[in-house]
Amino acid sequence: MQQKSCPSSVKPTDTAILAQVTKLASPYKGKEDMLIQVLKKVQTVVGHSSISKDVAIVVAEAMDIPLINVYEVASFYSMFATTPRGKNVIRVCKSAPCHVKGAAEVMEAISKALGVQFGETTPDEKFTLETCECLGICAVSPAMMINDDVYGELTPEKAVEIIKNY
Ligand code: FES
Repeated sequence: MQQKSCPSSVKPTDTAILAQVTKLASPYKGKEDMLIQVLKKVQTVVGHSSISKDVAIVVAEAMDIPLINVYEVASFYSMFATTPRGKNVIRVCKSAPCHVKGAAEVMEAISKALGVQFGETTPDEKFTLETCECLGICAVSPAMMINDDVYGELTPEKAVEIIKNY
């Protein structure tokens, strides 16, 4: 499927998507401890776009919890996008085991190949670069995730090759 580029301004979320979010979050009314699980599901519904203000409001209302709590969780966990992201999100682990095995060189190579810094999105909105904490695969560090795919034993060259497949 071809991805159309979105304008950079923030558009209201599609009402069909908001209806899906309501349906998804409503069964968890009053169960704030389920917020992370709900937001994970919501992120799959909104795709690579962000958990925008209108989505957060719908989640808060459907779960009957304060909006600020939704924002706090969404911004604390890097897996949830609160600002628009590219189609593919590359997360390079910056925790100590990966760091000592060359994560910084991997990041530098990726940044150079895509022409943007970590924390930024490419102008064509194809990639967003982020760092993350331990991915749980330290044995094969340095490691990164692209969307839901995990890669280990990276070298700068290998990382750039992998990205070419996206
Ligand atoms: S420290 Fe990077 S995967 Fe564990």
